[in-house]
Amino acid sequence: MRTVKINDVSVRDGNQSLLATRMDHQDILKILKELDKVGLHSMEVWGGATFDSALRFFKRSPWQNLREMKEAAPNTPFSMLLRGQNIVGYRHYDNDTLERFIRLTLQNGIDIIRIFDALNDIDNIRNAIKFTKKHGGHAQGALSYTVSPVHNIEYYVNYCKELVDLGVDSLCIKDMAGILMPDVVYELVKRLKETFDVPINLHSHATTGLSNLVFEQAILAGVDIVDGCISPFSNGTSHISLETLVDTIKYHKMDVDFDHLDLQPAYEVSNSVATKYINSGQYKTRTLIINPNILIYQVPGGMLSNLMSQLNDQGASDRYDDVLKEIPSVRKDMGYPPLVTPLSQMVGTQAVLNVLTGERYKMVPKEIKDYVMGHYGKFPGEVNQQVVTKVLNGDPVIIKTPIDEIPSVYNEMKAELESKINREALEEEVISYILFSQNAILDESKEEQMKQPEVIEFEIFEGGQ
Ligand code: CO
Repeated sequence: MRTVKINDVSVRDGNQSLLATRMDHQDILKILKELDKVGLHSMEVWGGATFDSALRFFKRSPWQNLREMKEAAPNTPFSMLLRGQNIVGYRHYDNDTLERFIRLTLQNGIDIIRIFDALNDIDNIRNAIKFTKKHGGHAQGALSYTVSPVHNIEYYVNYCKELVDLGVDSLCIKDMAGILMPDVVYELVKRLKETFDVPINLHSHATTGLSNLVFEQAILAGVDIVDGCISPFSNGTSHISLETLVDTIKYHKMDVDFDHLDLQPAYEVSNSVATKYINSGQYKTRTLIINPNILIYQVPGGMLSNLMSQLNDQGASDRYDDVLKEIPSVRKDMGYPPLVTPLSQMVGTQAVLNVLTGERYKMVPKEIKDYVMGHYGKFPGEVNQQVVTKVLNGDPVIIKTPIDEIPSVYNEMKAELESKINREALEEEVISYILFSQNAILDESKEEQMKQPEVIEFEIFEGGQ
């Protein structure tokens, strides 16, 4: 009998999707402790927005958090989400920083690194795969799934071939917007299984209400690993529940390493944690309501709530529908990038500016200028040249430094950090400082830091997928 493995993502993506990554570390430890007894294939606990959130909102060391999580859950392999050369940030870092980050990550308790690039540009992820393997980790290569005239099954198979050629240990279909359809996932999984020997992992969000069907079809097509969350943190902008996955796998007479009842203690702890956040108002009903409109606009759930709050801030919530309609046009102009961090926020912001100023590309964020100059990587399709001209507005085109030639900033940043904290800095502290300089100094009293105005390099990056 074929066994389908389950990867739990409750405290990382579930937390990020439903609680804007604000789950308290102690609550995370409680949940992991119980989930650790279940016999899961792995648990995604780190990366994505958790690193930024630990420093920015909790004033805690993400490294210390990771060590404590491993202590609480020593039996289950840990996985994390890495944005390729962007690490857990929003721009390309040098190889020295990337390698140190990956080595420290593996040393501190992560086993599997899921590596993706928003543009599916292999150049942006090949070094991350190389360093993960060099330091003994499991490198999982992820395709960022989207729908567009240039993205089809053939495109994804070719991209996965590049990943497999780089030596990835498994492949992941990363459907961050939850827009996979049941028939498409069936065909995609089948093709990947026929073409490659490595295990295939499906990651999808429940946003449109179709995820039960999507996972059932993926299971029937032969998927090896599926992602889900313990039920109190499942559905809506989050993921299918572990319980539903177990039932679906069993219904189709396949094997799974644990039973419904084995999840009960983890369910109870998670349920009481969820209740706490529901009562405090941080866990909003809104996030659990399915949104089939996403299939029309292909906008990830997290991005919709960000857009809503951006418009509210501007007193322009009545323009929500106009912005939703503008997003596909901006995306087309940009050559159909998948809407995942950082592209989702960039395209969303540009759409907001186009609508609010009343003139398309009259105002353009620096990130969009950089994008059209190719600084984020290769465009999936053709960018609209008229738009490029308007975006650049006569500015000279700056040629991007090739990734392998970006100089190491480690020594310089170490010296800078040490001069601020008046002591020797640990390697992990220097890495945090390189990634999030504004928030990485944890020595000062928490009250002091809270009082400082928050400087956010790109405000809407909060809550990225
Ligand atoms: Co996700």
